[in-house]
Amino acid sequence: MAVTVRPLTPEFAAEVSGIDARHSIPDADFAVLRAAFEEHSVLVLHGQRLSDDEQVAFSERFGPLEDSLVGTRGEGSYFAKLSNIADDGGLVDPGAQKMLFSKANEFWHTDSSFKPWPPSASILIGRVIPPEGGETEFCSMRAAHAALPAAIKARLAGLWAEHDLSRTRDMVAPGAMTAEQRKVYPPVRHAVVRANPVNGRKTLYLGAHVTRIVGMEERESRALIDELIAFGTGERFVYRHHWTQDDMLIWDNRCVLHRGRPWDRARYARSIQRTTVAGLGPTEAA
Ligand code: OGA
Ligand code: MN
Repeated sequence: MAVTVRPLTPEFAAEVSGIDARHSIPDADFAVLRAAFEEHSVLVLHGQRLSDDEQVAFSERFGPLEDSLVGTRGEGSYFAKLSNIADDGGLVDPGAQKMLFSKANEFWHTDSSFKPWPPSASILIGRVIPPEGGETEFCSMRAAHAALPAAIKARLAGLWAEHDLSRTRDMVAPGAMTAEQRKVYPPVRHAVVRANPVNGRKTLYLGAHVTRIVGMEERESRALIDELIAFGTGERFVYRHHWTQDDMLIWDNRCVLHRGRPWDRARYARSIQRTTVAGLGPTEAA
């Protein structure tokens, strides 16, 4: 089976066929996948009905995995399981705490940017997909950076931003983050402009967890962050994924933002599960 890569938008995202992620992938095929990841930022692979162990084994080809967040149901595993299916098979009350936190995924974000060594890839498999809604959207902050006027690029070079998990948690359920979680995830700083280590292409690195630009006055800082995210999430930079069951998405957290779209949580089940490839060091300013 030859591996083929078909771009999905003019800027980024590609569909990859010829990979069966249940089985160990030949090195040559993985090299094609890895190169496509660096180049296209979001990869879509259909028909990947993987067990948990298979998802972990496949994901580890990209590098060591992150542990799930402290204080979540996935704790002690490599998985972030986002599901509104209760243990008895019914639907979880959309007002339940766990569902509120999953609402935070509806803000444009990049996974785990509140960690000191933020991740490279996220690998997400759709197990149960609602008949309508519940899409996942991506935007290329690399394409957005490239399209910025030179004067703004110059202004951003060398800036650092503070990222804090509690910001997005407080946005959906004020005060609901536990004291333990706050201790485990104190605010961290990351470069606002990063470069891809393979091809050198620059990207904005901002998202919903960002609280402020270091050293900038509060109002100016918020306005700049909001403006850049609004620019980056403009339609020309967005790929919207309409899920089919067993789709696998692989995205590059270093240079895309993503968000889940709402669906009728009182009516339909949705279950998706993510593994996340750990970052290997702190961010560097490009
Ligand atoms: C995630 C995520 C959004 C969605 O898995 O990291 O943000 O589509 N998912 O629910
Ligand atoms: Mn996410």
